[in-house]
Amino acid sequence: MKITIIGTGYVGLVTGACLAELGNEVFCLDVDQRKIDILNNGGIPIHEPGLADVVARNRAAGRIVFSTDVAASVAHGDIQFIAVGTPPDEDGSADLQYVLAAARNIGKHMTGFKVIVDKSTVPVGTADKVKGAIQGELNQRVSDVKFSVVSNPEFLKEGAAVEDFMRPDRIVIGCDDSADGSTARAQMKALYMPFNRNHERIHWMDVRSAEFTKYAANAMLATRISFMNELANLADHVGVDIEAVRHGIGSDPRIGHSFLYAGCGYGGSCFPKDVQALERTAQEYGQQLMILNSVEAVNEKQKQVLGNKIFKRFGKDLAGKHFAVWGLAFKPNTDDMRAASSRVLLSELLRAGATVAVHDPVAMEEAKRVLELDFADAPQLLKNIRYADNPMDALDKADALAIVTEWKAFRSPNFDQVKSRLKNPVIFDGRNLFEPSVMSGLNIEYHGIGRSVLTRA
Ligand SMILES: NC(=O)c1ccc[n+]([C@@H]2O[C@H](COP(=O)([O-])OP(=O)(O)OC[C@H]3O[C@@H](n4cnc5c(N)ncnc54)[C@H](O)[C@@H]3O)[C@@H](O)[C@H]2O)c1
Repeated sequence: MKITIIGTGYVGLVTGACLAELGNEVFCLDVDQRKIDILNNGGIPIHEPGLADVVARNRAAGRIVFSTDVAASVAHGDIQFIAVGTPPDEDGSADLQYVLAAARNIGKHMTGFKVIVDKSTVPVGTADKVKGAIQGELNQRVSDVKFSVVSNPEFLKEGAAVEDFMRPDRIVIGCDDSADGSTARAQMKALYMPFNRNHERIHWMDVRSAEFTKYAANAMLATRISFMNELANLADHVGVDIEAVRHGIGSDPRIGHSFLYAGCGYGGSCFPKDVQALERTAQEYGQQLMILNSVEAVNEKQKQVLGNKIFKRFGKDLAGKHFAVWGLAFKPNTDDMRAASSRVLLSELLRAGATVAVHDPVAMEEAKRVLELDFADAPQLLKNIRYADNPMDALDKADALAIVTEWKAFRSPNFDQVKSRLKNPVIFDGRNLFEPSVMSGLNIEYHGIGRSVLTRA
């Protein structure tokens, strides 16, 4: 099938590459010339495991092309996926300017029936706005070309995006019941057929319910994290090991084990903005989402948990202190620094007078870019960050190590080396990677999240 993907970011590039892998002819459009140049020169603008191979294979086979040519992109795809960003607006609502700009471009150039698919995460009612934007352009041209707008939210996880796209646990598609809607439904069914060989994965629903489903999924996952973080903070006070509790409750099939890890807060491009956007939607309808309000507040506080533990141990004035930080990306296997907890910790440490040495396996270049923005008011503090080539090099003469991202490479370090390179054998573990009893056996002062019972032993 002929597919156009508008927006060649995490979601657009993965969607385009995976659909090309299945034999479709894919045209990827972006307004960012730099991204398109990188892709046309055989590179990949983001870090995503396995993606480079899929892109290279399909580019070589001529099944995927990258361009900034809007007219050509509209002419190409019978199905036009909108996969542009929906960042938070100043009031927390989803900023739809990129989605609507993409829609207007389609309306300006289309000459025959198109299925337009909202793949970006967008609030309930956006498909109507997309429809309106396209129809507005068609009216200006006095054109009666038909189209259908479908909602097909994306559930892939950064770091496992190719795997998730190729083996989805569900495909949510919202279609309306008109004649154009049923043509769109048939085309979407055909497009996703290869994913349905083992069993039916498509959940058909109305457009608004599909839009809402994406927010509900992210809100639920964020809730589980904040719930465990809040309990972990209490566990630290009452002498309870939150890891034991996690096992104890996760074995109940009604609860399950996933997404119950206590830590130093969730970040990334999705959970923070989607929770906020859902709250804003509620406000627009005169409703208040009290649970999600708290989920967000708990998370904001949780991002300070490592800083607070460090202040408690070393005092509020960190002048003359030096810390090693392992992990910058908001989670492992990505270089995405959006809303990463490391940004909060680095701000706290540097503004309190400390120097830091940081290491992340892939996110250091992206970190340099975003930290320039974070420290726009105090750029001289950026000189107090040293970027280390490997985890061990970050440790030299540090008063303590803080772990922010649970990269696999950090899970089983040579603890003798860790101890000999640190000035003090002190670890603040924001992802509970290590066992407190093992740390105590190694004479390492260990501060996990909600693991105080064993730390005190
Ligand atoms: N990143 C994730 O893990 C993830 C997962 C599921 C859903 N989503 C959702 O998918 C959407 C895209 O997210 P992302 O992380 O891929 O964003 P991204 O910022 O990585 O990519 C968006 C791309 O769209 C391009 N763009 C903007 N306006 C354009 C236009 N008019 N025409 C063509 N290109 C344009 C930008 O230049 C950018 O390259 C968001 O709504 C997000 O919430 C993201």
